[in-house]
Amino acid sequence: MEKAKVETFVKALKCPTTPVTWTADIKNLFTPTDIAHMKMQAQPIDLSSYDEVSTRPTALAIYQAVSSGYMPRDEDRWTQAKCDTFGCWIQGGFKK
Ligand code: HEM
Repeated sequence: MEKAKVETFVKALKCPTTPVTWTADIKNLFTPTDIAHMKMQAQPIDLSSYDEVSTRPTALAIYQAVSSGYMPRDEDRWTQAKCDTFGCWIQGGFKK
């Protein structure tokens, strides 16, 4: 999916009425391996940081990477349910 379409797609997701939160739902989606590898990249993303992951362009890039199966690397790809949870967190305004 092109970057421009990700935003539209996320807005259209059918999300649960109970809000998705960083603490309860999002932070544990990232494994210690994910966090370690993404800290070492030329353009690092700290996947353990609420402030970084909740920066809109970063969040959209993460959504695009996991929903396309591009990330995580060398691990099982995220299930549709995990991708939807992350997308609903974006849609819901990054609740902590
Ligand atoms: C859920 C876990 C992960 C997420 C959300 C994630 C997210 C991302 C994002 C958003 C990018 C930038 C892609 C772009 O828009 O161009 C990226 C790049 C990259 N990631 Fe990850 N990553 C994850 C796990 C990993 C793991 C486990 C590895 C290595 C084993 C890894 C290695 C890399 C590398 C080498 C790049 C930069 C070069 C490239 O794009 O190929 N990532 N990642």
